[in-house]
Amino acid sequence: MNRVLRIGLLGCGTVGSGVVALLQQGADDIAARTGAQLVLTRVAVRDLTRDRGLMLPDGALTDDAASVVEADDVDLVIEVMGGREPAGTLIRRALELGKPVVTANKELIASEGPELSAIAQAAGVDLSYEAAVAGAIPIIKPLKESLAGDHIRRVVGILNGTTNYVLTRMTEDGTSYEDALADAKALGYAEADPTADVAGHDAANKCAIIASLAFDSAVHGEQVYREGIEHITEVDIRVADRLGYVVKLLAIASEIDDQMAVRVHPAFLPKEHPLAAVRDAFNAIFVEADAAGELMFYGHGAGSLPTASAVVGDLIDSARNLMQTARGPVESKHRDKQIRPIEELSTQYFVLLDVDDQPGVLAEVARTFGSFEVSIAQVWQEGDEEQAQLVLVTHRAREGDLRACADALADSPGVRRVASVMRVESEVFDS
Ligand code: NAP
Ligand code: HSE
Repeated sequence: MNRVLRIGLLGCGTVGSGVVALLQQGADDIAARTGAQLVLTRVAVRDLTRDRGLMLPDGALTDDAASVVEADDVDLVIEVMGGREPAGTLIRRALELGKPVVTANKELIASEGPELSAIAQAAGVDLSYEAAVAGAIPIIKPLKESLAGDHIRRVVGILNGTTNYVLTRMTEDGTSYEDALADAKALGYAEADPTADVAGHDAANKCAIIASLAFDSAVHGEQVYREGIEHITEVDIRVADRLGYVVKLLAIASEIDDQMAVRVHPAFLPKEHPLAAVRDAFNAIFVEADAAGELMFYGHGAGSLPTASAVVGDLIDSARNLMQTARGPVESKHRDKQIRPIEELSTQYFVLLDVDDQPGVLAEVARTFGSFEVSIAQVWQEGDEEQAQLVLVTHRAREGDLRACADALADSPGVRRVASVMRVESEVFDS
C-alpha cells in the first residue's frame, strides 16, 4: 500500500488525545479499511509546553491552528478544539481548500451546520460530525443514511450525561442537586461551564442537530425550546416515583402534521419506558419511524476514547471517499418544516402548589383549572397545616392554557406559591 493521507488535528485535549491514541493503536486496521495509511502530520494546541503524554511526530505541534489547515502536508482536518470561533473559520477554510473535515463540535454544528454542509457540498468534500451528538453512540449516520428510506416521526433522547448523572443520584441515593453536580464535574462529565449542561443548552444543541437530519429541515440550537434541571427538587422526584415515573431531561424532536416540535425540558417519564432505565452519565436515543418501528441507541455520550471512536469512524469514511474521489451522502433540507411554538403543544402536567390548609382553597384551585380548560386527573394533599402542598396531575392540556392557569393560580387566594410545573410524558410522547 503506497497511498498516504495526511491528517491535521485541531485540538489535542480530552477528545484529541483519544483520537491520537486510536489512530496509533489501530493504524494497520485503519490502513486496511481505507486503502491508505493515515498519518498525523500536524497538531494545533494553545499551550505548547504542556506534557500531553502522547507520542507526536517531531515538529507536529503548533499553536497556529490556521497553519494546520493551510499546510500542503494536510489532506484531511479533524476539529476538536470546541467553541464557535476560531473553529468555524478554520472549518470553512479547510472545506474551501477541498479538505474533508471531521468535527465533534456540537455548538458549532447546531448554529452553523446547514451553512457549513452547503460549503462542503459546493466544494465536493465531506463534513462529518458523528461525535457531536451523544459521543460514541452512532446516531448521525443512522438518521442520515440507514433510515433514509423511512419516515421518522419522533426522536426522544437523553443527550446530556451530566444532567442524567445528577438526576440519577438525586433519585437513587437522595443526593442533593449541588452534591451530585459537584460529583459530575469531578468525574469530568460537565462542560467547562456546567450551565451549558444544567440549563439544557448542550442538549438543545444536540436536539437541533438531530431534528435537522430527522426532518430534512434546518434547525438551529437557539430555536429549540429549553428548560434545565436547576429547579428540580426532592419533592418532584418523590411524587414522580409514587406515580410510576422517573424525572429525566428529555430532548424531543417530533413531527406534527406539516410542522415539527423541538424541545428540551425535564419531564416525568413512565418507569417502563426504555429510556427510564438509562442511568448515570449514559446517553440514549429512542427513534420512532413508520417502517422500522421503535429503535433505541444507547452508550457513552462523552469521554476521551468513546468520543474519539466516533471521530475516527468518520475519519475512515472520509478517507475512503477521498481515495475514491467520492463524497458521502449530501444532507437534504427539502422539507423545510417550521417549528410549532411550545404554547401550541399539548401534554399532561404535574403541578405542585404550596397552599394554606383552609376551607375553600381546593375548590378555588379546581375552579381556576376549569376556567382555563385544564382538566384535573389526580389531586391529593401532602404536608401539615403549617406547610400544606397540593399535588395535581392534569389530563392533556394545551401548554398555553396551562401557563395561563399557573399564572392565575399564583394570584389565587390561599395559594402561597406555584412550587413546580412539569410535563408528564405519560402517553409515551404523543405531541
Ligand atoms: P478540551 O479538552 O478543552 O480540548 C480542546 C483542545 O483544543 C485543547 O488541546 C486546546 O489546547 C485546543 N485549543 C483550543 N483553542 C485553540 C486555539 N485557538 N488554537 C489551538 N488550539 C486550541 O475539549 P474536548 O473536551 O476535547 O472537546 C473538544 C470538542 O469535542 C468540543 O467541541 C466538545 O464539545 C466536543 N465533544 C467533547 C466530548 C467530551 O467528552 N469531552 C464529547 C463530545 C463532543 P490546549 O490543550 O493547549 O489547551
Ligand atoms: N457535557 C456533556 C455531557 C459532554 O454531559 O453530556 C458530552 O457532550
